[in-house]
Amino acid sequence: EAIEKGGFDHFMLKEIFEQPKSISDCLRGRIHPEEAWIKLGGLRDYIGKLANSKRIVFVACGTSWHAGLVGEYLFEELARINVEVEYASEFRYRNPIIREGDIVIAISQSGETADTLAALELAKSKGAIILGVCNVVGSSIARVTHAGVYTHAGPEIGVASTKAFTAQVSVLSLMAIATAHQKGTITEDTFRRLLWELQEMPKKVEMILQKADEIKDISKLFTFASNFIFLGRGLNFPVALEGALKLKEISYIHAEGYPAAEMKHGPIALIDEDMPVVFIATRDSSYEKVVSNIQEVKARKGRVIAIVSAGETEVQKMVDFTIEIPNTHEMLQPLLSVIPLQLLSYYIAVLRGRNVDQPRNLAKSVTVE
Ligand code: G6P
Repeated sequence: EAIEKGGFDHFMLKEIFEQPKSISDCLRGRIHPEEAWIKLGGLRDYIGKLANSKRIVFVACGTSWHAGLVGEYLFEELARINVEVEYASEFRYRNPIIREGDIVIAISQSGETADTLAALELAKSKGAIILGVCNVVGSSIARVTHAGVYTHAGPEIGVASTKAFTAQVSVLSLMAIATAHQKGTITEDTFRRLLWELQEMPKKVEMILQKADEIKDISKLFTFASNFIFLGRGLNFPVALEGALKLKEISYIHAEGYPAAEMKHGPIALIDEDMPVVFIATRDSSYEKVVSNIQEVKARKGRVIAIVSAGETEVQKMVDFTIEIPNTHEMLQPLLSVIPLQLLSYYIAVLRGRNVDQPRNLAKSVTVE
């Protein structure tokens, strides 16, 4: 097992550090920024159908559901398609409405999650085109779908998903960009810029991983927190949810993820000097709004850790700790902003002496209801 961990203390840490490679494996042969093309072999006949679709429904569970939320922002913004993101377990028992031209996309690392598989079979029986974004080749979900894209993240052993998530988001980005390009809802310039930025992603993830010690030092100060709130807006809202999920899964600290503005409708009541709040405050279209949300938390003495864009100075003055991440296209930001949150949860869990690779009560793949 020590050999399989490749010198890392845990599979989770190894998998976090594998992300530059897993993202580049996921992109390999699929994009060419100079020649300006995207190829998704598995979806050859389906990008046109996606471009013509009236509605896309993502079905998934857990971390894969968070990837679906990122997919919602991507497809809506770039391809101007209506998107819904459903918990597979809710979708399957709700007599869901499926209209002609709807496309249902399952996202699943294992390809074996019982609820996701059942949701997909239900959608198929109602006449939907069903697609899959899976990591495990030949898995049940991959076999039942009409077509799909593999994430090529390699085996993920840690129960808490890390590299599978960034690979899912990479694939969803490719799908949304390809669909938008086909549909003509993005300019050629934007198309090329997005491809360039995707290509740069492994290098930028590597830059964040080099800050692991810095993040570990911050973790030491929050090891004994009993609660955490994670806040973000836009594409960083799903990242906030994922940050909270990671932390609660492996450290057993109660954590909530919220859209930053929605904080006023509840979580703000919890804020005092004992409440750590993680903000994702990168320089994007919601930056100014997030800054004012940070001020609201600081005014109530919350302790703030902010994930910020490289070169940030304004937020630095307001908060307790900042973690800088490289700049990228706003639509691709989640691929970077999630990395420090994975590391933060990992170090806090290790410092609390938790079994990070196999947290209590959780399974890697939930194959029963
Ligand atoms: C379990 C795992 C999670 C995973 C979820 C969905 O809860 O612990 O890490 O996100 O299942 O699994 P899937 O294989 O469908 O992505």
